[in-house]
Amino acid sequence: MNDKLDLTLNINGRDHAVRVESRKTLVDTIRDDCGLTGTHIGCEHGFCGACTVIVGGEAVRACLMFAVQAQGKPIRTVEGLAKNGVLHPLQRAFMTHHGLQCGFCTPGFLMLTASALEKNPHITDEELIEVLSSNLCRCTGYQGIIRAVHAARDEMRPPLPEVVEAPPAEIDPSHETAQDEAPAEPEMLGR
Ligand code: FES
Ligand code: FES
Repeated sequence: MNDKLDLTLNINGRDHAVRVESRKTLVDTIRDDCGLTGTHIGCEHGFCGACTVIVGGEAVRACLMFAVQAQGKPIRTVEGLAKNGVLHPLQRAFMTHHGLQCGFCTPGFLMLTASALEKNPHITDEELIEVLSSNLCRCTGYQGIIRAVHAARDEMRPPLPEVVEAPPAEIDPSHETAQDEAPAEPEMLGR
């Protein structure tokens, strides 16, 4: 039985028409059928995060998702991070702060943290550690990755709005007089 499906996947703003089996994973489709090999495959079981891409604004494990499930949603891969030849702040920060060694895990970390920073540009250090804990790196160690993501966050985040203290309220003399008046008699209130 031929259960191949014709799909159109929108990846990094460009449509890719593919014919794949309904059981084909998103990561295999991105790599084999769309020619975008920047997304890596590690464990294929959802543990390592090497295959992380952003689908419909959410960071997902592309080895745990079928390609057919991603149709109709914008997909972003590491190839789409740089714009007009200019590296994304996260990419620059990973280079500057030694956030990679062999680079195998790097695309997954970049997409994971890009999604987290877009959702919350003011994410705290503790929250970032929590986010990063979902992906594995087998060679760099995590200190460089953490430093890189902190640096990118600090570069990317918009300033918090200034807190302007409200001036002290002016006392309305007529209001004071009204409060000083004796309470209305019960019969005046219809009781
Ligand atoms: S390859 Fe997808 S989580 Fe490891
Ligand atoms: S840099 Fe080698 S696995 Fe992370």
